[in-house]
Formats: sequence, C-alpha cells, structure tokens
Amino acid sequence: MASNWTGELIYEGKAKRVYRVDNEFLVMEFKDEVTAFDGARKEHAPGKGRLAAAQTAFLMGLLGRHGIRNHLVDWDGDRKILVRELRMIPIEVIVRNYAYGSFLKRMPLMKPMTKFSKPLVEFHLKSDELHDPLITTDDIIEAGLAGQEQLNEIISIALRVNEILSDYMVSRGLMLVDFKLEFGFDKSNNLVLADELSGDTMRVLINGRHLDKELFRKGASAMDLVKSYEEMNKILGVPLNT
Ligand code: ATP
Ligand code: TYD
Repeated sequence: MASNWTGELIYEGKAKRVYRVDNEFLVMEFKDEVTAFDGARKEHAPGKGRLAAAQTAFLMGLLGRHGIRNHLVDWDGDRKILVRELRMIPIEVIVRNYAYGSFLKRMPLMKPMTKFSKPLVEFHLKSDELHDPLITTDDIIEAGLAGQEQLNEIISIALRVNEILSDYMVSRGLMLVDFKLEFGFDKSNNLVLADELSGDTMRVLINGRHLDKELFRKGASAMDLVKSYEEMNKILGVPLNT
C-alpha cells in the first residue's frame, strides 16, 4: 500500500529522496538503488527500497520502545517513512563490535573479525568528496558541529543503541559487526537519532555470512542483495506491511 504523503522534493541522496511535508515533517523515500564506493558502483535493485524502509521502521520502532528518541513517525508499508525534520549534525557515528572494514585499513595489526574488548565509537565527517574521513571529538567541537556534552550524550546513546540492537540480533541468531548512526537536533534542541538503520548501514552476519551491503561491495549482484535483505527481514521478524 503506497501512501498519499506528498511534499516538495528537497534533497536527493544516494539512497533516499527527501520531501518536505510541512514545517515539522519530512518524507524519506528509499530508492530501489544500491551504491558502493561513494557511488562509483551503482545498480538498480528492484524491491530494495521497500525492504530497507521496513528494516528502518522496524528497528527505529524497537529502539523507540527501549527509550531511544528517534525521528520515525510512520511507515507507509512501501518505500516511504514519515519523519520529524531535524537540524542534522554532518557526522557519521560508527559503532564497532568486531574489527572490520575501514577499521582494518587504519589498524592492520588486528586480525579481521577480532571482537573488541569493548564496543568502539568513532566519528567521521559526512563528505563523499573526502571519503568520510575519521575525525576527533576536538575537531567536531572546534568546527562548532557539537559541544563536549552533546558528544558525550551521542556516545552514550550510540552504545545503548548497540546493546539493544546486538541483543535483538543475537536472539535471532545474528551477529552485529558494526553500524552507522546519524543524529540531529529537534526544535527544543534535543538530540534525536535520525536517518536509517538497514542492511545499507549495518554489517549483520548469519553463521559468518553477510546479509548486508557488504555482499554488493564484494561483487554480488543487486538482485542477490535484494534476496539477502528479504532473508534478513524474515529472520528479524520485520513485517511486510504496516
Ligand atoms: P549523500 O547522498 O548526501 O552523500 P546519503 O547518501 O547518506 O548522503 P541519503 O541517505 O540518500 O543521503 O539521504 C538522506 C539525507 O537526509 C541525508 O543527508 C541525511 O543526513 C538526511 N536526514 C536523515 N534524517 C533526517 C531528518 N530527520 N531530518 C533532516 N535530514 C535528515
Ligand atoms: P566502515 O568500516 O567505516 O566503512 P567501509 O564501508 O568503508 O569499510 O563502515 C562501518 C559501518 O558503517 C558499516 O556497517 C557501514 C556503515 N557505513 C555507512 O552506513 N555509511 C558510510 O558512509 C560509512 C563510511 C559506513
């Protein structure tokens, strides 16, 4: 069932189109596209938008029930979610449970998939041009993107999100390797979790096999990725409709 939510297109990114509904709400439409390597590899992926929107709605709902304030208002049962508009902080917050991906590139002394003694939280500047460079908390504060107290709160929310998601994944026989979060401020200046939580932004394994976008990064077709997102949704118990 597609929604009647309408609005002016205000932004088109790699994964989503963003529409303004009014001065409070946005609609995010997940595209049937998959991209990797900062957009250098791109393929049409029929069905992916709906599966990623469903994952996001389901996981944001789960986090909301555990007290994590987030931007989700509703899902249309198809490719769109209705969210609260935020003043976004242009950083990506990455939480890692196991050594993988860009972590291994900067720290090749560790073996792939080593479990960290505690989850790592790191910050990257959102910039495709610069390939989302790792930045320090001092960088963020000096650039005026967030203050120390806000960063402390972001770290504590990110770690709590990790606990909730990891516990849920483990209960379903899955392993959460790492994931990316984005945050923004609402009109009362509360920190709010935003953007998406899907196979595009998390690495999730079943018996050592990726169910996430890593498949596409490693050469799988867009069709195979869509099949894998279907499998992930089934295992997670993500409903197909609202
Ligand atoms: P880009 O294409 O800009 O490099 P992207 O591929 O991550 O980035 P998309 O995910 O396609 O972008 O588009 C979604 C955009 O909406 C992102 O820029 C994200 O930061 C922003 N966004 C997410 N949630 C909210 C929100 N609640 N309010 C305002 N903006 C949001
Ligand atoms: P990371 O290992 O830093 O990057 P790469 O994909 O280059 O190896 O990624 C850590 C996690 O964050 C992974 O689950 C994918 C997610 N992520 C995004 O969703 N968007 C991004 O732009 C980046 C850099 C990572």
